[in-house]
Amino acid sequence: MKKTTLSILLAFLFAPLFCQAQLVPFPYTFQKEVVSDTGMVVTAHPLATKVGLEILKKGGNAIDAAVAIQFALAVVFPEAGNIGGGGFMIFRDAKGKKVLALDYREKAPAAAKEKMYLDSMGNVMPNKSRYGTLSCGVPGTVDGMWQAQFYNGRLTWAQVINPAIELADKGFQITEQEAQNLNAEKLTFARNCSLSPAFVKYDNWKAGDWLIQKDLAETLRRIAGDGREGFYSGPTAALIIKEMERKGGLITLEDLKAYKSEWRTPLEFDWKDLHITTMPPPSSGGIILRQLLGMVDDYPLKSYGFHSTAAVHLMVEAERRAYADRATHMGDPDFWKVPVKTLTDSVYIKARMVDFKPDTASNSSKVFAGGIKESEETTHFSVVDRDGNAVSVTTTLNDSYGSRTVVAGAGFILNNEMDDFSAKPGVANMYGAVGGKANAIAPNKRPLSSMTPTIVSKAGKNWLILGTPGGTTIPTSVFQVIVNVSEFGQTLPEAVQAKRFHHQWKPNQISAEEGCFSEEVAAKLERMGHTIHYRESIGRMEAIMRLPNGKWQGVADGRGDDSAGGY
Ligand code: DON
Repeated sequence: MKKTTLSILLAFLFAPLFCQAQLVPFPYTFQKEVVSDTGMVVTAHPLATKVGLEILKKGGNAIDAAVAIQFALAVVFPEAGNIGGGGFMIFRDAKGKKVLALDYREKAPAAAKEKMYLDSMGNVMPNKSRYGTLSCGVPGTVDGMWQAQFYNGRLTWAQVINPAIELADKGFQITEQEAQNLNAEKLTFARNCSLSPAFVKYDNWKAGDWLIQKDLAETLRRIAGDGREGFYSGPTAALIIKEMERKGGLITLEDLKAYKSEWRTPLEFDWKDLHITTMPPPSSGGIILRQLLGMVDDYPLKSYGFHSTAAVHLMVEAERRAYADRATHMGDPDFWKVPVKTLTDSVYIKARMVDFKPDTASNSSKVFAGGIKESEETTHFSVVDRDGNAVSVTTTLNDSYGSRTVVAGAGFILNNEMDDFSAKPGVANMYGAVGGKANAIAPNKRPLSSMTPTIVSKAGKNWLILGTPGGTTIPTSVFQVIVNVSEFGQTLPEAVQAKRFHHQWKPNQISAEEGCFSEEVAAKLERMGHTIHYRESIGRMEAIMRLPNGKWQGVADGRGDDSAGGY
């Protein structure tokens, strides 16, 4: 019998024994609200939450826990947790003396071309930027984690990766939601992988099945042993290149070697009694959040009331204008001069609302970006450690399971982040976002993101740590949770679980979760000229708040397997 066949057989026979090793017994409890004195972790999966908590209890700081969570999610939450993708991290220490923004966003390969997704007629071929190796940006996660932990961690690199290695090697039991997601992608995996990956099973997956990822465990061991080089050179890099060669991808060894995450200056601003620290470009998220809060500033949102016609109309009109700016002005700051100063200037922001009419919807085809002279699947986690340091991370493969390409022999999924570029001016990407020159494809450029990892402080102290997946709906979801607590007086659980809505200029419609608006409010909005499009859930928010008694409250979104844990 071949060695691999034997090991699969043994793994199968002894699978139940692994229950001992699994950190959380199955079926999992998804803790949605937790209050604790010392540390808090909220992630998309109870096993990743447990990994983060264990690291904090061992004396690791918030960065150690965040790095351990990122690697653990790459194992237990393969639709978005990743080592083959990228993300952003915001860090703010307890006193606000050290504030960091780490950009480990994927980059276009050096061989990428502006029109690479257009056919001979000049039409976009959407599948090319969504599936398979041609859709992959050069992954940033491992370099990002290496940078974050090397400069700011307290534990050893191996200590923060070991829990992920164990989960990959021994396996873990999958949830109902994961089983459904994997079953839904069986064919796309089969089409886009050169070897059948651990995620594909002959029969359908069901809740409680064990997912064992031996190749991924080996890759993680190489990363644990050799740091970033365990990914960007040596056997892992060779396996990535082989996959590219087999399937016509563009990433080369030089691309991998040259990848470098960047420490950016965080975007910081005051709003009312709050101080907000969030992500600058290449994410559009921080600028949009700044604009939305600034645009509603002069209106009595509080007295309008939560989900009232006046509040929704105001927020939606602000969103329409902010997303018009996104489409024209925002892109990778290393390639395009993003006019951050103007876009975040309060005079400019207020001027954007001069044509706002309190009783009529604007028409997106008549709303343009401001004139400026100055040259569904991602995942979020929030962490606070015993010293009150906070980390807010949003990380992604882009949509669920990214390119659906698993690097054969290395066991991890590659992103399809190239779809976040504007393949052609004015043509929508998978999130319906349009763009132009600012976000056009270019070699080594980072695609514009909407991810908005955010830390809100009050009187100098970290107060609210939050973020969510959701593509272009991310900034508007973060906006809603902030105003839900600060303006509408909701508790954090209420604010996170509340139904959400979204407008992004184009298409000219309000997207909303079913049941978001009362019949009366919906009818009034429609009479004002708004179109409402009801859709499935928006985002999966993971938030932590400091309560007035000094304790931390962790709240995990009720829309998924998300789980909070504290001690
Ligand atoms: O960077 C971005 O904005 C997107 N790639 C995020 C994708 C996402 O949130 C998908 N989740 N539903």
